[in-house]
Amino acid sequence: MERVEALLGQLTLEEKVSMVSGSDAWHSTGVERLGIPAFKLTDGPNAARGDGSSGARAACFPVGVALAASWNVALLESVGAALGDEAKSKGAQVLLGPTINIQRTPIGGRNFECYSEDPHLSGTLAAAFVRGVQSQGVAACPKHFVCNDTEHQRHSVSANVDERTLREIYLKPFEMAVKQGDAWSVMSAYNRINGVFASSHDALLNETLKAQWGFSGIVVSDWGAALHTVENANGGLDLEMPGPPRTRGAKLLEAVRDARVPETVLDDKVRRLLTLLVRTGRLDSPAETPERSDDTPEKRALARRAAIEGTVLLKNEATALGQPLLPLDPAKLNSLAVIGPNAEIGRIQGGGSSSAPPHHVVHPLAAIAARAKDVELIHEPGCLTHRYLPAFDPRQLDPLGRAGEGFAIDYFSNLDFSGTPFRERVERRSKLAWFGAFASDVRDPKFSARLSASFTPDTDGVHQFGLMSAGKSRLLLDGEELIDNWSSQTRGESFYSAGSTEVRAEASLEAGKGYRLVVEFQREGNQLIAGLQLGVLPPAAEDPIGDAVRAAETADAAILIVGTNADWESEGHDRAGLALPGDQAELIDRVCGANPRTVIVVNAGSPVETAWLDRASAALQVWFPGQEFGDALCDVLFGDANPSGKLPLTVPVQLEDTPAFEHYPGKNQELPYGEGIFVGYRWYDTRGIEPRLPFGHGLSYTTFAYGELSVERAHRVGESVSAALDVTNSGDRAGAEVVQLYVRELSPSVPRPEKELAAFAKVWLEPGETRRVELELPPRGFAFWDVVDHDWRVDPGEFELLAGSSSRDIRARQRIELQTELGGSRELGGSRELGGSS
Ligand code: BGC
Repeated sequence: MERVEALLGQLTLEEKVSMVSGSDAWHSTGVERLGIPAFKLTDGPNAARGDGSSGARAACFPVGVALAASWNVALLESVGAALGDEAKSKGAQVLLGPTINIQRTPIGGRNFECYSEDPHLSGTLAAAFVRGVQSQGVAACPKHFVCNDTEHQRHSVSANVDERTLREIYLKPFEMAVKQGDAWSVMSAYNRINGVFASSHDALLNETLKAQWGFSGIVVSDWGAALHTVENANGGLDLEMPGPPRTRGAKLLEAVRDARVPETVLDDKVRRLLTLLVRTGRLDSPAETPERSDDTPEKRALARRAAIEGTVLLKNEATALGQPLLPLDPAKLNSLAVIGPNAEIGRIQGGGSSSAPPHHVVHPLAAIAARAKDVELIHEPGCLTHRYLPAFDPRQLDPLGRAGEGFAIDYFSNLDFSGTPFRERVERRSKLAWFGAFASDVRDPKFSARLSASFTPDTDGVHQFGLMSAGKSRLLLDGEELIDNWSSQTRGESFYSAGSTEVRAEASLEAGKGYRLVVEFQREGNQLIAGLQLGVLPPAAEDPIGDAVRAAETADAAILIVGTNADWESEGHDRAGLALPGDQAELIDRVCGANPRTVIVVNAGSPVETAWLDRASAALQVWFPGQEFGDALCDVLFGDANPSGKLPLTVPVQLEDTPAFEHYPGKNQELPYGEGIFVGYRWYDTRGIEPRLPFGHGLSYTTFAYGELSVERAHRVGESVSAALDVTNSGDRAGAEVVQLYVRELSPSVPRPEKELAAFAKVWLEPGETRRVELELPPRGFAFWDVVDHDWRVDPGEFELLAGSSSRDIRARQRIELQTELGGSRELGGSRELGGSS
């Protein structure tokens, strides 16, 4: 590109060095002298948050795993395009997503953000998402490259993984996002891979990503993942984020001057950064637009459709009346019990950097009440499930003379709340996070903030208050210190594991009386993140499960909405196990016992313990479905939409059965990937372990019949194989089926999984309609990574193609033979000749 080269030629060494670090939390560094603007980056994979301080809201789409459960490539492209547009509404040129690490263990804290346990599904969907984002002139940023598959010690742990596993499982989604999606940026992870930090990994960044795959975009460090000046620079990291520079700046300048980092290496980074400015159009329109909320009916509709398509019907059995329980017909119901901890407040997203303030939220209870207008509704929460005390209800907070509801918050540019605040606001949220010195919300790494409100409880009795923070904090009630999280603190898992544990204290309060609540917060600087989270818990009901059981008994049917929330499933820590928090197992058991017409709705981003599945007549997995949660749920519950989602992961019977169980979490920051390529269903199939629900499972309100799989019997190694079959909607409702095609090599020369997903297609059918589904298998669909030649390879021989409705519901199969070409096997030129990676 001539423009890029011309600019590069005019930059001084100092200017070039300045460009390879961020200038603040969310901006790169521009060079005013030459009219080179900075570009802006924003999280994230399911909503474009912006810098977090403008107050602008975002369209919150379903999280990654929910999008992946749609198995709908075109949908992912549309959601990507909508998020690209959302990024523009935040003035950003780079959207930090999709998250395409592999769901190696079901307790990974960020599983909800990631797509799947399967690399082909992840990669196909990621490429579509990337194409969508970039169709808007915004760079997508697949992350976190690579093997950031758990949150446990993510900043230091070494994922120790063999070459073949790395290629076949963990790198593959990135390879597809780069080759098929043409991603303009990639984020390097915090962790190490085989001992080397991801941001210094010459073999992965320079050789694999850039040289072999032909990646022409920028490698941006995860926030704070750039730790080493020379190693990062020579190892392939292009942009250190956030700014201002920690490991670059003067240190890098010196390293270039004394040739520890060649200037050509620096030039390559700057060339890539300039190319990004050209690709995103930023070079030609350098003025930054202010952040705005761009809430449109189209985005709402798309978010709702995506939530519907990601909904997986896990089970739908005939009840005593002989009909499957779902869909429910409101006309046939007099009363309906809506039960569960996630009914009144549905959980729309997980915790950490992917979350954003939504334009609005449609909660399940409110949506059901609106939809089933003529039905008598009884609501009972059933039990408590909080990890940290629940947020304050802003309606109970009077900001002491300021307009609105919530806390009055004052920010001071000093540590002792002295002088005039530099910002005064009203804050409805109980959880606040600042990217330390780098946020535009705070001017100085050192700052203090005071929140005050008059709190009016609506229940008499003992209230619990909770406070935790990354920084010092204390809570005063009517002038008396109630919680001291200031003079000493214990480190906990809050705020990406940089915060304290939650400190709790009790106070006996009277309903209707106003109490003056003050929270003081102080941050001394240096940490990347500062944050504060407050909670309050009113006196609990005496027998919440009993109340729920009574509600279920008297109602014609019950909808029981269970799950987790963003404190349980979050960036920064993994989960301890599969159990649903609180007494939800007992709640489910007793409610199902009280009313056989109970639908269980699982509102969680990862697999949970589902021993209760035998007891339930119907169950839906809705994941964290984004801001349109309630309406999408009603569409499915009441049959306006027919569920078509399929599990992008295996639901195990118990944690002990899962592939990484033996190796997780490792020792001394070393995490062996000992299960090798046998990740997800590859493990259960090969080991003969029965999962609770298999990969690819998902029912419909209609049924589908599969015809024969037709495929030519003989092919040459290295050729694509076309398979086709007829699928008929054999039921009486329109619906969609995801046809999955798996490949098995019959006599492999190396250990291979029982079968591997190689292609899939989603097909919409009217009742009685038949369609021919064509599935194309490129050579890579048969390949394994050969560790002798360090390349993809297909051996001649017999393969079986298996077409199914899930990985364990194979409906048609066919053997084919791949014949040798001029003797011997054919290597598939890893990156060079295949052109695609699937
Ligand atoms: C996360 C990234 C995110 C970045 C910026 C990091 O903690 O790992 O996924 O994009 O923060 O918020």
